[in-house]
Amino acid sequence: PYLFKHKRRNFLVKDTLRPSDLDALQHIEIRPTDVFLITYPKSGTVWMQQILVQIMDAAHPEQAEDGHNRTRVPWLEERTADNPLRERPDPRIFGTHLPADMLPLGVKAEQSKAVYVWRNPKDILVSLYHFAHTWVLLETPKSFEGFFQQFLDGEVYMGSWFNHVQEYFAAQNQLNIHFVQYENMLKDLRGEVVKLCAFLEKDLTGEAIDHVVKMSSFNSMKTDPKANYKDLIEKGRYLGETMRKGVAGDWKNYLTVAQNERFDQVFRDKMSNSPLTCTWEIDQ
Ligand code: A3P
Repeated sequence: PYLFKHKRRNFLVKDTLRPSDLDALQHIEIRPTDVFLITYPKSGTVWMQQILVQIMDAAHPEQAEDGHNRTRVPWLEERTADNPLRERPDPRIFGTHLPADMLPLGVKAEQSKAVYVWRNPKDILVSLYHFAHTWVLLETPKSFEGFFQQFLDGEVYMGSWFNHVQEYFAAQNQLNIHFVQYENMLKDLRGEVVKLCAFLEKDLTGEAIDHVVKMSSFNSMKTDPKANYKDLIEKGRYLGETMRKGVAGDWKNYLTVAQNERFDQVFRDKMSNSPLTCTWEIDQ
């Protein structure tokens, strides 16, 4: 009742969301100045949204004053084809969890900039497990054990993590895409913001960069209404905090030794054609 299959993937059912709308997204007008924030759920989407919005505000102060899209970025798959995205002034930012082959065709054709955030999938599993208890639109897992298996099988919101990440890495030569790892943001946020500014071709002063970093810390976001989604908690859509822990390695508090070994085995099997490995330096 919560998810329906679209092509080979699972998508969240929403009143406004129909398969034909998702397909129509492929043909929306895209501009070279558009910036796409792309993630598999729970990889640090809101964190990167906060960073991108701060960078764009600093680079385009006239728009920051309008506040036109500078609270939260419009979410691609929640838009229907008739939504007036085209009235938004440039540069537009969009967020999406769509897999690479369902992106608007213009992202590739126009070589719009795309930022892809990825994260240790064991931590994503744990974060998604909590989120499934938080977001009323997701089915509450009956047990961690069952959810663990569903995650490995890709029977969760937005389908398989393994496919999502692999398909974006495979598409990297066709897209104008910048990969950022969640764990690297934890280690050196400023360094990652500097790299992002270079990719986005936004020339920020050192002071402006410091401001971006300050506004994007976990503690600052936890009390920032743009980032903590308190409005959705108040409306009853979320049953708890989404700014949960914000750390690497929380999976160690959840996975048994046997589950961890099984996860590593599945990772090796599914990712054998990819340069990604299952070691996350920050875990050590
Ligand atoms: P946890 O549930 O592990 O705490 P998304 O935005 O893609 O849904 O991802 C949510 C995850 O990102 C949550 O992970 C959340 O705590 C974490 N997160 C959000 N902002 C963060 C920040 N500034 N620093 C570190 N982690 C952050």
